[in-house]
Formats: sequence, structure tokens, C-alpha cells
Amino acid sequence: MHKSMKAAAITQWGDAGVFQLSQLPVPAPAADEVLIKVAYAGINPADWKMRAGHLKSQLPATDAPLVLGLDASGIVVASGAQVSEFAEGDRVVCASNLFSTGAPGTYAEYLVVSKNKVAHLPGTVSLKAAATMPIAAITAKQALFASDKGNLQPGQKVKIFINGASGGVGSFAVQLAKWAGAEVATSCSSANLDYVKSLGADCLIDYKTQDIAYELSRWAPQGVDLILDAVSAGSLEDPFLLLKPGGKLVSIATLTDDGDVEADMARAQQHGVSKILAFVSDANLGKEMAQLLELVDTGKITTPTAEVFPLDKVAQAHQKLETGHVRGKLLLRLCAERQ
Ligand SMILES: NC(=O)c1ccc[n+]([C@@H]2O[C@H](COP(=O)([O-])OP(=O)(O)OC[C@H]3O[C@@H](n4cnc5c(N)ncnc54)[C@H](OP(=O)(O)O)[C@@H]3O)[C@@H](O)[C@H]2O)c1
Repeated sequence: MHKSMKAAAITQWGDAGVFQLSQLPVPAPAADEVLIKVAYAGINPADWKMRAGHLKSQLPATDAPLVLGLDASGIVVASGAQVSEFAEGDRVVCASNLFSTGAPGTYAEYLVVSKNKVAHLPGTVSLKAAATMPIAAITAKQALFASDKGNLQPGQKVKIFINGASGGVGSFAVQLAKWAGAEVATSCSSANLDYVKSLGADCLIDYKTQDIAYELSRWAPQGVDLILDAVSAGSLEDPFLLLKPGGKLVSIATLTDDGDVEADMARAQQHGVSKILAFVSDANLGKEMAQLLELVDTGKITTPTAEVFPLDKVAQAHQKLETGHVRGKLLLRLCAERQ
């Protein structure tokens, strides 16, 4: 095995130009960790917010090269003494330890992660498709179904509005809500209407040309039961007026653009509804991913469309990410010799 690896690292916070292609040592797995040869790294909006320094209080300093990247797919090449679940050659998908321990992330040829953040891939799911999933899919799943968030029960006849349906989180949220039996209205721009329709949305609202409140009041005259906002505070005018009494607004925490959360929660209460700011937890990502991968394997949901960049084009990928108008997912290709 190689002793050094290629990685896109940063040594200062800043714009997309701060990435440097570096040679770094291949990390060694601890007893409960797995060493993965990365095929594709997922690119998530949190990555540019980290790169720009917005989340620096939660990250290691950049006096040594810092490798970003929260999720990936790849092949297991080694594992620690306490790992019996994974063996060399296994095709897997995972979240990185970057946010939990500050360990290097997935923008590198090799990655060490805790075994509970790894899941086996079914034979039907390619490494490329799998890399679109971890953070986006479990964020959507938890926002819709966790008891302290959307608390959606499969089979429940409810109307859900997903704001920002064409991005990574939205692509999974639309499909998971439909799989659970809900009726789903969505917002996206004109260019993404066909894509969001292909995900199964019942009602499409073009936020560039249509009035969301008016269109939703025609679709759900009593108001909707649940709003999942995957855009930002302020992207919806008066969201509480769109909900039924007792309804919920689950806002995915953007970490940079969440408005005055306490004031919003108080205002929601005055309207007889609630607002929840949702943070994803990847502590049990392996188990949660196994459930989601089964849905993909059995054709209940599909993975989003993805645009792939080679590692040396990471700056271009981040420039695109930062526009906030990605369709589906962006991925970095590391060493994808096997699908
Ligand atoms: N805190 C957490 O635990 C956590 C976890 C995951 C994600 N997040 C956050 O959740 C947000 C969404 O993540 P993501 O991965 O889905 O992002 P993404 O893939 O970059 O998605 C962006 C999508 O938002 C749409 N959009 C932008 N402005 C819109 C508007 N005004 N109305 C409707 N749609 C709009 C864009 O569609 P158009 O091109 O059609 O405009 C694009 O498809 C990000 O802020 C991310 O940081 C937080």
C-alpha cells in the first residue's frame, strides 16, 4: 500500500482558490476504524462554508493542511483490530470524522473513519450513485421522520411542502415523502421543473415565476401539515401562514443563514404551529444508510443526478456549489477504477 496520498487541502480560510493539491501521509486506522480507498467524495454546501472559515470554531486550525469532505464511497483496504464487520475489498459508503473529531475528510485518496459511520453497498448500487447519498439522504430522512423533527409516519395521509426540492437534500426528501405515502408539493426554479417532476412531486411551483403562497393555497386550502425548508430562513415569506393549525416547519440548519431562530419559534407558536431547526446526526450513519440503500436497491427511491469533477478541479466544483443552484449532487472523483 502507498505511504502517501493525493489530497485537496487548505492551509488558510478563503475563496475556492485556497485549495492546494498536496501529498499527505495515508492515515492508519485505530482499533474501531476502517481505512477506505476513496472512489468518489460527496461535495456538500457545508464544505464551502468550512472552506470560507464560517465554521472555523468547530474545525482544526489550518496551520497544518486541512482536508475537507463529509462523505464518500470507496473500497475497504484495511481495518482495526475491533472491526469484524468490514473486510478488505468491501464496497462501502461512509461519512467522515471531520466534524466529530477533526480527522481529515474525504477530499483525499484514502480516508479513516469510525466503523459505525460505514455501510456496505448492495451490488446494484454503483460507487458513484452511493456517493450522492450519505449526508443529503440522512438529512432528508431525519428531517421528515425523526420524532423530534417532522415525525412523519409511513402511510399517514398528509400534505408536505418541500422548499428547495432540486438540491441534494430536496432530491431525497421528495422521494422519501412519496415513498411514505404523503402528497408532496415542491419549489424549484424553471430549469429544474422536469427534474423535480421525475422525483415524483405531485405539485410543482416555480419560485422564479409563481407565487408560492397562492399556489399552495390552491393545492392545500386548509394549509399543509409539514414544510421542509432546505433553502434558508427568509426564502419563504410568512411560512407559518402556509401551515395547518398544529403544522410544523422543519428548517434544515444552513449554519450561516438561519435568521433569528428564537424569534421565529415564538412567532410560530403565536400562529399555533411550530418551527424546528434541524441538524443532521451522523452518529449512526452506517445503520441509517443500510435502510436507505435498501430503498435504492429495491427501486423505491433513486439516487440524484450528479456532476463529477476530478480532484484537480475542486476549485471549480466549489465555485458551482457556492452559487446555491446545484441540481442533485456534485462529486469529486478520486480513484474510481471499480464501479
Ligand atoms: N445542518 C445540517 O445538519 C445540514 C445537513 C445537510 C444540509 N444542510 C444545509 O441544507 C441546505 C441544503 O443542502 P443541499 O445539499 O440540498 O444543497 P444544494 O444541493 O446546494 O441545493 C441547493 C438547491 O436549492 C435550490 N434553491 C436555491 N434557492 C432557492 C429558492 N429560493 N427556492 C427554492 N429552491 C431554491 C436550488 O435550486 P434552483 O437552482 O432551482 O434554484 C438548488 O437545487 C444547505 O444550506 C446545507 O448547508 C445542513
